[in-house]
Amino acid sequence: MRRRFACRIGARVLRTMSTSYCVSLKDVQEAQKRIHGLVHTTPVMTCSSLDKLAAHKLFFKCELLQKTGSFKIRGALNAVKSLPSDCTAVVTHSSGNHGQALALAAQLMGIPAHVVVPTTAAACKKSAILGYGAMIVDCEPTDESRAEVAAQIIQKTGGVLIHPNQDPAVIAGQGTIGLELLQQVPDLEALVIPVGGGGMLAGIAVAVKAIKPHVKIYAAEPLNADDCYRSKMNGVLTPNIQPPVTIADGVKTSIGPRTWPVIRDLVDDVFVVTEDEIKRATRLVWERMKLLIEPTAGLGLAAILSSSFQEKARQMRNIGVVLCGGNVDLGGIDWVKEPSLYN
Ligand SMILES: Cc1ncc(COP(=O)(O)O)c(C=O)c1O
Repeated sequence: MRRRFACRIGARVLRTMSTSYCVSLKDVQEAQKRIHGLVHTTPVMTCSSLDKLAAHKLFFKCELLQKTGSFKIRGALNAVKSLPSDCTAVVTHSSGNHGQALALAAQLMGIPAHVVVPTTAAACKKSAILGYGAMIVDCEPTDESRAEVAAQIIQKTGGVLIHPNQDPAVIAGQGTIGLELLQQVPDLEALVIPVGGGGMLAGIAVAVKAIKPHVKIYAAEPLNADDCYRSKMNGVLTPNIQPPVTIADGVKTSIGPRTWPVIRDLVDDVFVVTEDEIKRATRLVWERMKLLIEPTAGLGLAAILSSSFQEKARQMRNIGVVLCGGNVDLGGIDWVKEPSLYN
């Protein structure tokens, strides 16, 4: 996609330049057609008590109710459906939602899937991946080991790597959230999106800004994994150096070379939140909306309730929030583990 745009670098310099991104509005629209009927059009919910608390009208896009429990099936399915017909297998490295989504997407298309999973991954996540018919390959819990083992599997099977957040077809698939939301809430003024590798943020930003350039796109990120915030501040891609420690486990990854140019140019601001703010927002959604979101999905509300958002976005009325997933490990809650419950 070639377009002209105003670029804010280091929050100070305003300049005009032209560039191309890895996906365009057309790619997102085609993705929407490709995955139509295979994924849910997720509902948008509202909550008057959270509106009061936030002093905004909030529209929650419920991707926790999406197939596989997160938005990830949109991108995975678009990527698998875009592969050449002679593709023998798909491969990825993900202990989380992308692994499950790719497993289901491959199953739906009748292609074998190999998911490289660290030995430390929660048993429930492994069983979900197996449940969708994929094969699990163990690796050490390091980025090097993941990449090495995935490369070995690709060589052995002739499979194609579907990257969780830098594959253009994945990014375009995630962008379909934005197309849907603009239809569901036509007078949307801003949208708050959790960011990890940035596939969801970049896909939505490309789609929304092309259709309604005035809609603000805000990213929400844990303070403990603030590579997106620092990249925007520095004007250059600045990945996390240490593996981040955060309850929002879906966003520990850093943004990458494909998503960064889109985020640099089309994302209006990044809001960072503390672990306590994420926990409070997650609990608020559980209690007030009765929606079982995972902590990563609490990031959007946490950002909106933060003082910096309240200062910067005070004039906004209608704000969308992506509740990106609901894969909570309930086995981590003590009373759920009580043996009497299973008798
Ligand atoms: C529930 C959830 N939300 C957000 C993200 C972040 O998505 P992205 O890496 O595309 O930024 C992930 C990634 O795994 C996720 O599982």
